[in-house]
Amino acid sequence: MIATNFIHLFFQQFKFSLYLYAIIYKIGMGLSIYDEIVALREALHEHNRRYYVENSPVISDYEFDQMMHRLIELEEAHPEFADENSPTMRVGSDKTSEFQNVKHRYPMLSLSNTYSIEELDEFINRIEKEEGETEFVCELKFDGTAISLTYENGKLLRAVTRGDGESGDDVTANVRTIGSIPLTLTGDYPAEFEIRGEIFMPYASFDRLNIEREAAGEQLFANPRNAAAGTLKQQQSSIVAKRGLDCTLYQIASRELPFSTHWEALESARRWGFKISEHARICRSAEEIRAFIEHWDTARKELPYPTDGIVIKVNDFAKRRRLGFTSKSPRWAVAYKFKAEQALTRLVSVDFQVGRTGAITPVANLEPVLLAGTVVKRATLHNAEQIELLDIRLGDMVYVEKGGEIIPKITEVELSERKADSKPFEYITECPECGAKLVRYEGEAKHYCPNQGGCRPQILGRIVHFIRRKALDIDGLGTETVELLHESNLLNNIADIYDLKAVDLAVLPRLGEKSADNIIRSINASKSVPFARVLFGLGIRFVGETTAKYLAAHFKSLDAVMSASKEQLLEAEEVGDKIADAILEYFADENNIAIIERLRAAGLQFEEEAKELHSNCLEGKSIVISGKFLDHSRDELKELIELHGGKNQSGVSANTDFIVAGENMGPAKLQKAEKLGVKILSESEFIALIGGELQNNTGQNPVTKVETKNEDKKENDFVQGSLF
Ligand code: IVH
Repeated sequence: MIATNFIHLFFQQFKFSLYLYAIIYKIGMGLSIYDEIVALREALHEHNRRYYVENSPVISDYEFDQMMHRLIELEEAHPEFADENSPTMRVGSDKTSEFQNVKHRYPMLSLSNTYSIEELDEFINRIEKEEGETEFVCELKFDGTAISLTYENGKLLRAVTRGDGESGDDVTANVRTIGSIPLTLTGDYPAEFEIRGEIFMPYASFDRLNIEREAAGEQLFANPRNAAAGTLKQQQSSIVAKRGLDCTLYQIASRELPFSTHWEALESARRWGFKISEHARICRSAEEIRAFIEHWDTARKELPYPTDGIVIKVNDFAKRRRLGFTSKSPRWAVAYKFKAEQALTRLVSVDFQVGRTGAITPVANLEPVLLAGTVVKRATLHNAEQIELLDIRLGDMVYVEKGGEIIPKITEVELSERKADSKPFEYITECPECGAKLVRYEGEAKHYCPNQGGCRPQILGRIVHFIRRKALDIDGLGTETVELLHESNLLNNIADIYDLKAVDLAVLPRLGEKSADNIIRSINASKSVPFARVLFGLGIRFVGETTAKYLAAHFKSLDAVMSASKEQLLEAEEVGDKIADAILEYFADENNIAIIERLRAAGLQFEEEAKELHSNCLEGKSIVISGKFLDHSRDELKELIELHGGKNQSGVSANTDFIVAGENMGPAKLQKAEKLGVKILSESEFIALIGGELQNNTGQNPVTKVETKNEDKKENDFVQGSLF
């Protein structure tokens, strides 16, 4: 104990490498492996905090890595000392996990928004009328995704997304990989509390990620907010670890806090090791608040991370308690949102792009103009309806705005500058690429070129989609090579890929023998890509990656999907009218059938891989899953049924053996079950039936249920009264 105190003191005084202390400590005191592990963990936590939270590292990356390697080595050799909050957990894991839904102890409310200074003044006046002169804390509104972290005895216990405000996803494994989130705390922290904030993606991480995605032929993230939210929901924490997320905290929630103001709470949280924005300020008047807003409306453009407004909060907790909440948001805080930047420029011409499904997208060519730091030359016009709605005409002066998308959009025409002889825009009726007459599908805003087999961008688009990493993952065949092979008449559809020979490829410019061999190897490897990805790769309209997974899980083989009726298709999860029609249309086309037969002959996976049975205790049983469950997702339960030899049924019928019912089981199913006398089992009864396989396949422990119904009420009363 004395030795530990001495080490802390020494470190603080001389800012010396803690690693050296760990070693001195070990040698000097003749300490055990466990003590060395603990000392290394402490040291690495502290260096992490200095690097990610304070941006002032005191040791080199090399020294840090040395310590980390030593700790990894010791932990591997001594699994009995494993700790989920060890700094080694920052690298994440390759294990895939689904997220448990967890109820928030205190609901995660949102803020009321305003874009107007007048409304902000009304907010301040209302508060001062009720509470007299008031101090406000003004903070940046970080543009990411909200997170709630629970700490117990100074250790990160759980991280949950906002979800619907009542419950969210448990993303702890992913959150542990974010360097700026402390896994262990220092100082005088409360024994148990929740702290909330925003996980965001700095611009540098965002740009790097999109460059990587573009190179890999993957869809780009539209903005850092989507990238942060998408990353947090990744099923492999090792991927999250590489994406460079960051986190700032702005609200503590606990039964009792020893503070009377928000400012004190922020300062304390900073001492405990959290990253708290250094830009928050106390403002004592409407003028000071306005000055803060005006400053950041410009200054935020220099920040290395995205913000979309300023949050103005009452500082004093007693005042907050009196002001209370509306049903959706606190009455003691408001978000002033910055308007998206706009620029005025001339619409020069309109191009029409044809996507792989034949969808036509009009794109505006603009006179170059500076907008939010970049020169904008093009903007999306979405579809014919949008052009008509805004009455956009060639030669018009138009306002462009950067919304949530990558490409800016036109939001308005400056009618005062319209030329007298301008004419309404005439939308094209024929495909700009192949001349086919365009068609419209019911309920679809876009026009489509129906000439799938003869329209170049569709042909190339389908091939490029097929070879994507998330589909057949054929390496080395980039867009350019696909174009070259198409021009040489070697590649006209996805089945042609499997007829390619190394000699065909080696003669192409920029492709030598070695790359040709690699491509052929990758084509051969794609023959073992699982069925769901093959189905996705076919490029059926509206059948994305997730739908393909559901279809594969439901139908088990391509033949079953091909011969399914519309009713049968609708039985698969996530499949609605639109998707079912698109699937039927795809398989009604004999060209597609011919391609599929060639893919079958090439040896692609057209069936779901059979899983090894855990038991045959459900053999011959037809089981229906209905409702929402606590410890397993519906898909997990369905998988368990199959792993134990049973059959999943979507609807209750006379041959249903039993129903596994969760919360909110559909009333129609319940009625039918009662009428037919079908047995109903709870989730735990079902798990007991298959031999108590309680662990879900996420590798995480099932959620510990924290509250009972009565406690729920107590928590809510508490929230209304005094959640800060
Ligand atoms: S305070 C009761 N402070 O904006 C809600 N929120 O709609 C307390 N946000 O969900 C939220 N920066 O995700 C607060 N400095 C900040 C924030 C902030 C970003 C997000 C947060 C919240 C949303 C408000």
